[in-house]
Amino acid sequence: MEFNKVLQERHSVRNFESQHISEDKMRRILEAARLAPSWTNEQCWRFVVVEDSEIRGRIVNAVPDSNPAKNALKEAPVIVVLCADPDKSGDVAMKEYYMVDAGIAMEHLVLAAVNEGLGTCWVGVFDEDEIREILDIPRRYRVVAMTPIGYPGKHSDSRERKPLTDIAYENTWENPVRYLH
Ligand SMILES: Cc1cc2nc3c(=O)[nH]c(=O)nc-3n(C[C@H](O)[C@H](O)[C@H](O)COP(=O)(O)O)c2cc1C
Repeated sequence: MEFNKVLQERHSVRNFESQHISEDKMRRILEAARLAPSWTNEQCWRFVVVEDSEIRGRIVNAVPDSNPAKNALKEAPVIVVLCADPDKSGDVAMKEYYMVDAGIAMEHLVLAAVNEGLGTCWVGVFDEDEIREILDIPRRYRVVAMTPIGYPGKHSDSRERKPLTDIAYENTWENPVRYLH
Protein backbone atom coordinates (compact mmCIF):
# COMPACT_ATOMS: atom_id res chain seq x y z
CA MET A 1 0.00 0.00 0.00
CA GLU A 2 1.24 3.52 -0.74
CA PHE A 3 2.73 5.05 2.44
CA ASN A 4 0.42 8.07 2.64
CA LYS A 5 -2.57 5.77 2.22
CA VAL A 6 -1.32 3.65 5.12
CA LEU A 7 -1.20 6.79 7.28
CA GLN A 8 -4.68 7.88 6.14
CA GLU A 9 -6.19 4.44 6.66
CA ARG A 10 -4.83 3.86 10.15
CA HIS A 11 -7.38 4.40 12.84
CA SER A 12 -8.33 2.66 16.05
CA VAL A 13 -10.37 -0.41 15.16
CA ARG A 14 -12.70 -1.57 17.91
CA ASN A 15 -14.59 -4.33 16.16
CA PHE A 16 -13.10 -7.26 14.31
CA GLU A 17 -13.89 -10.32 12.22
CA SER A 18 -12.72 -13.57 13.81
CA GLN A 19 -10.81 -14.56 10.62
CA HIS A 20 -7.37 -16.10 11.19
CA ILE A 21 -4.26 -14.02 10.36
CA SER A 22 -1.60 -15.84 8.35
CA GLU A 23 1.83 -16.45 9.87
CA ASP A 24 3.41 -14.60 6.90
CA LYS A 25 1.45 -11.46 7.73
CA MET A 26 2.30 -11.70 11.43
CA ARG A 27 5.98 -12.19 10.62
CA ARG A 28 6.05 -9.07 8.42
CA ILE A 29 4.22 -7.04 11.10
CA LEU A 30 6.68 -8.09 13.82
CA GLU A 31 9.60 -7.46 11.48
CA ALA A 32 8.39 -3.86 11.05
CA ALA A 33 8.53 -3.42 14.84
CA ARG A 34 12.04 -4.88 14.93
CA LEU A 35 13.27 -2.16 12.54
CA ALA A 36 12.28 0.71 14.85
CA PRO A 37 14.93 3.10 16.20
CA SER A 38 15.75 3.02 19.92
CA TRP A 39 17.94 4.56 22.59
CA THR A 40 21.58 3.58 21.72
CA ASN A 41 20.00 0.76 19.71
CA GLU A 42 19.26 -1.14 22.94
CA GLN A 43 15.91 -2.40 21.60
CA CYS A 44 14.41 -2.49 25.07
CA TRP A 45 11.09 -3.82 23.75
CA ARG A 46 9.62 -7.30 23.81
CA PHE A 47 6.35 -8.41 22.20
CA VAL A 48 4.17 -11.23 23.47
CA VAL A 49 1.94 -12.44 20.63
CA VAL A 50 -1.12 -14.15 22.05
CA GLU A 51 -3.39 -16.34 19.92
CA ASP A 52 -4.37 -18.89 22.56
CA SER A 53 -8.05 -18.21 23.25
CA GLU A 54 -7.88 -19.10 26.95
CA ILE A 55 -4.99 -16.67 27.54
CA ARG A 56 -6.72 -13.99 25.45
CA GLY A 57 -9.78 -14.40 27.65
CA ARG A 58 -7.69 -13.81 30.77
CA ILE A 59 -6.12 -10.72 29.20
CA VAL A 60 -9.59 -9.34 28.43
CA ASN A 61 -10.49 -9.81 32.11
CA ALA A 62 -7.54 -7.59 33.09
CA VAL A 63 -9.04 -4.70 31.11
CA PRO A 64 -11.69 -2.59 32.86
CA ASP A 65 -15.23 -2.75 31.49
CA SER A 66 -15.07 1.01 30.97
CA ASN A 67 -12.31 0.63 28.39
CA PRO A 68 -13.83 1.12 24.90
CA ALA A 69 -11.30 -1.33 23.45
CA LYS A 70 -12.37 -4.24 25.68
CA ASN A 71 -14.70 -5.71 23.09
CA ALA A 72 -12.04 -5.35 20.39
CA LEU A 73 -9.69 -7.47 22.48
CA LYS A 74 -12.42 -10.10 22.81
CA GLU A 75 -13.11 -10.25 19.07
CA ALA A 76 -9.65 -10.09 17.52
CA PRO A 77 -7.82 -13.36 16.82
CA VAL A 78 -4.47 -11.97 18.05
CA ILE A 79 -3.41 -9.71 20.90
CA VAL A 80 0.10 -8.28 20.96
CA VAL A 81 1.37 -7.17 24.36
CA LEU A 82 4.17 -4.61 24.32
CA CYS A 83 6.75 -4.77 27.13
CA ALA A 84 9.88 -2.71 27.72
CA ASP A 85 12.86 -2.81 30.07
CA PRO A 86 13.46 0.71 31.46
CA ASP A 87 17.05 -0.20 32.34
CA LYS A 88 17.75 -0.78 28.65
CA SER A 89 16.90 2.78 27.65
CA GLY A 90 17.70 6.38 28.58
CA ASP A 91 16.42 8.55 31.40
CA VAL A 92 17.19 12.21 30.70
CA ALA A 93 15.77 14.87 33.03
CA MET A 94 13.00 12.45 33.98
CA LYS A 95 12.13 11.72 30.37
CA GLU A 96 11.96 7.96 30.37
CA TYR A 97 12.85 7.00 26.85
CA TYR A 98 11.80 3.38 27.16
CA MET A 99 8.27 4.64 26.62
CA VAL A 100 9.40 6.40 23.44
CA ASP A 101 11.33 3.37 22.19
CA ALA A 102 8.37 1.11 22.84
CA GLY A 103 5.92 3.61 21.34
CA ILE A 104 7.85 3.91 18.10
CA ALA A 105 8.16 0.14 17.74
CA MET A 106 4.45 -0.30 18.39
CA GLU A 107 3.58 2.32 15.80
CA HIS A 108 5.79 0.55 13.25
CA LEU A 109 3.79 -2.59 14.04
CA VAL A 110 0.48 -0.73 13.77
CA LEU A 111 1.31 0.80 10.37
CA ALA A 112 2.60 -2.54 9.06
CA ALA A 113 -0.69 -4.11 10.13
CA VAL A 114 -2.63 -1.51 8.08
CA ASN A 115 -0.39 -2.35 5.12
CA GLU A 116 -1.53 -5.97 5.50
CA GLY A 117 -5.21 -4.99 5.49
CA LEU A 118 -5.49 -5.43 9.26
CA GLY A 119 -6.68 -3.20 12.09
CA THR A 120 -5.30 -2.46 15.54
CA CYS A 121 -6.17 -0.37 18.59
CA TRP A 122 -3.67 0.91 21.14
CA VAL A 123 -4.75 -0.16 24.62
CA GLY A 124 -3.10 1.64 27.52
CA VAL A 125 -5.51 1.01 30.37
CA PHE A 126 -5.31 -2.42 32.01
CA ASP A 127 -4.16 -4.10 35.21
CA GLU A 128 -0.42 -4.31 34.59
CA ASP A 129 0.35 -6.75 37.41
CA GLU A 130 -2.36 -9.10 36.22
CA ILE A 131 -1.05 -9.05 32.64
CA ARG A 132 2.47 -9.67 33.94
CA GLU A 133 1.25 -12.66 35.90
CA ILE A 134 -0.88 -14.13 33.07
CA LEU A 135 2.01 -13.94 30.58
CA ASP A 136 4.85 -14.70 32.99
CA ILE A 137 6.60 -11.41 32.22
CA PRO A 138 9.73 -10.75 34.34
CA ARG A 139 9.40 -7.95 36.91
CA ARG A 140 12.00 -5.71 35.30
CA TYR A 141 9.73 -5.24 32.27
CA ARG A 142 6.95 -2.69 32.24
CA VAL A 143 3.86 -3.66 30.30
CA VAL A 144 3.51 -0.55 28.18
CA ALA A 145 0.51 -1.27 25.98
CA MET A 146 -1.27 -3.90 23.99
CA THR A 147 -3.23 -4.10 20.78
CA PRO A 148 -5.71 -6.45 19.23
CA ILE A 149 -4.89 -7.33 15.61
CA GLY A 150 -7.47 -8.57 13.15
CA TYR A 151 -9.52 -7.93 10.05
CA PRO A 152 -11.64 -4.84 10.72
CA GLY A 153 -15.37 -5.35 11.14
CA LYS A 154 -18.01 -3.14 9.57
CA HIS A 155 -18.22 -0.33 12.06
CA SER A 156 -15.41 2.20 11.93
CA ASP A 157 -14.88 5.18 14.24
CA SER A 158 -14.25 8.57 12.68
CA ARG A 159 -11.35 10.58 13.99
CA GLU A 160 -10.71 14.28 14.28
CA ARG A 161 -7.43 16.10 14.42
CA LYS A 162 -6.44 19.65 15.37
CA PRO A 163 -5.56 21.76 12.30
CA LEU A 164 -1.84 21.91 11.43
CA THR A 165 -1.84 25.65 12.17
CA ASP A 166 -2.62 24.83 15.82
CA ILE A 167 0.18 22.33 16.28
CA ALA A 168 3.11 23.42 14.10
CA TYR A 169 5.15 26.63 14.51
CA GLU A 170 7.99 28.10 12.48
CA ASN A 171 11.29 29.19 14.04
CA THR A 172 9.76 30.29 17.36
CA TRP A 173 6.83 29.30 19.53
CA GLU A 174 3.40 30.11 18.03
CA ASN A 175 4.93 31.78 14.95
CA PRO A 176 2.78 30.56 12.03
CA VAL A 177 4.37 28.30 9.45
CA ARG A 178 4.39 30.20 6.11
CA TYR A 179 2.96 27.42 3.97
CA LEU A 180 0.15 26.40 6.37
CA HIS A 181 -3.13 28.29 6.23
C1 LIG B 1 -0.85 5.56 24.41
C2 LIG B 1 -2.26 5.28 23.93
C3 LIG B 1 -3.13 4.60 24.76
C4 LIG B 1 -4.43 4.32 24.33
N1 LIG B 1 -5.26 3.60 25.15
C5 LIG B 1 -6.49 3.28 24.70
C6 LIG B 1 -7.34 2.45 25.49
O1 LIG B 1 -6.99 1.99 26.58
N2 LIG B 1 -8.57 2.17 24.99
C7 LIG B 1 -9.01 2.62 23.78
O2 LIG B 1 -10.13 2.31 23.39
N3 LIG B 1 -8.22 3.39 23.00
C8 LIG B 1 -6.97 3.73 23.42
N4 LIG B 1 -6.14 4.48 22.63
C9 LIG B 1 -6.60 4.89 21.28
C10 LIG B 1 -6.94 6.39 21.22
O3 LIG B 1 -8.15 6.61 21.89
C11 LIG B 1 -7.01 6.81 19.73
O4 LIG B 1 -5.77 6.63 19.13
C12 LIG B 1 -7.44 8.27 19.56
O5 LIG B 1 -8.76 8.46 20.02
C13 LIG B 1 -7.39 8.71 18.09
O6 LIG B 1 -8.19 7.90 17.29
P1 LIG B 1 -7.57 7.07 16.07
O7 LIG B 1 -6.55 6.12 16.63
O8 LIG B 1 -8.74 6.35 15.46
O9 LIG B 1 -6.92 8.04 15.13
C14 LIG B 1 -4.85 4.77 23.05
C15 LIG B 1 -3.95 5.44 22.22
C16 LIG B 1 -2.67 5.67 22.65
C17 LIG B 1 -1.70 6.36 21.70
